[in-house]
Amino acid sequence: MEMRALGRTGLSVSVLGLGTVKLGRNRGLKYPGGDGFELPTDEQATALLRASAELGVNLIDTAPAYGVSEERIGGLMAANGWFGDREKWVVCTKVGEEFDAATGESRFDFSPSHVRSSVERSLRRLRVDALDIVLLHCSENDERDVMGSGALDELREMKQQGLIRAVGASTKSVDAGLLAVRERGGACDVVMVAFGPADRQQGLVVEAARLRGVGVLVKKGLASGHIQTIMAKMPPEIRARTDDPVESAMRFTLGRAGVSSFVVGTARVEHLRENAAAAERSAGK
Ligand SMILES: NC(=O)c1ccc[n+]([C@@H]2O[C@H](COP(=O)([O-])OP(=O)(O)OC[C@H]3O[C@@H](n4cnc5c(N)ncnc54)[C@H](OP(=O)(O)O)[C@@H]3O)[C@@H](O)[C@H]2O)c1
Repeated sequence: MEMRALGRTGLSVSVLGLGTVKLGRNRGLKYPGGDGFELPTDEQATALLRASAELGVNLIDTAPAYGVSEERIGGLMAANGWFGDREKWVVCTKVGEEFDAATGESRFDFSPSHVRSSVERSLRRLRVDALDIVLLHCSENDERDVMGSGALDELREMKQQGLIRAVGASTKSVDAGLLAVRERGGACDVVMVAFGPADRQQGLVVEAARLRGVGVLVKKGLASGHIQTIMAKMPPEIRARTDDPVESAMRFTLGRAGVSSFVVGTARVEHLRENAAAAERSAGK
């Protein structure tokens, strides 16, 4: 598996990352088939993490808003000795969004006190001494979340204290992504954006990040599982190489300078293997 530098963080991440929404949450999601699917068993979740280790996928993306995802990752990794080496893994989590499984609703809190208690909770749940990456889990009002909340400053302080290695924001709008990179460029080490053929405007954020040495993680690159929609806006030069939507999406995303990792959500080992094979075929070509 190809590894790439994550901007100037000093972290090295696999070009395929593992998104873990489906390890912990089965409500309020837009995946095919909707909500209410069975969460994977501990055996299935362990197999997914073991396969990640074997395939060289070292980036795991989670969040407090993904239900019991953090707790499960922390517990299963501890039970399996992090499959040999905690330091090989780059665990990314977030702050600011709190999902209520009972109501299926999220609420947002980017106050410095909430940010601190959320990070402390993530450290406990993930059973680690330091979090590799913590991102603002932005709301629809993402420009305010990035600029006005004091949350990034609190994360920077926790980074100074050695509790976090890299900080940044997972944004929705292009404007917020650009604010994170340009205005808060000194504050954000990493941004996470939904960049793909249907979200080309986010390429502006990717390029701004590349110029400033801010690492870029890509989310929702398989159209949240609606993979039959992916080819509609795919550039002809990629269509000419393959008609596989997964490989095409990876070629589009990983072919863009500045992108470090394509984070794909899956709960299925067979999909993880397929995605790793597609990433191998696509990366750097
Ligand atoms: N605001 C934020 O910060 C934010 C928002 C969204 C996502 N994210 C992060 O980004 C990750 C990716 O986003 P996402 O999960 O929304 O969407 P995604 O990665 O575009 O798509 C995930 C969906 O694709 C399916 N899938 C995966 N591999 C497949 C394959 N080879 N063939 C067919 N289907 C496949 C998965 O189902 P199976 O389980 O059946 O494989 C799942 O339903 C998330 O898991 C999360 O870590 C962050």
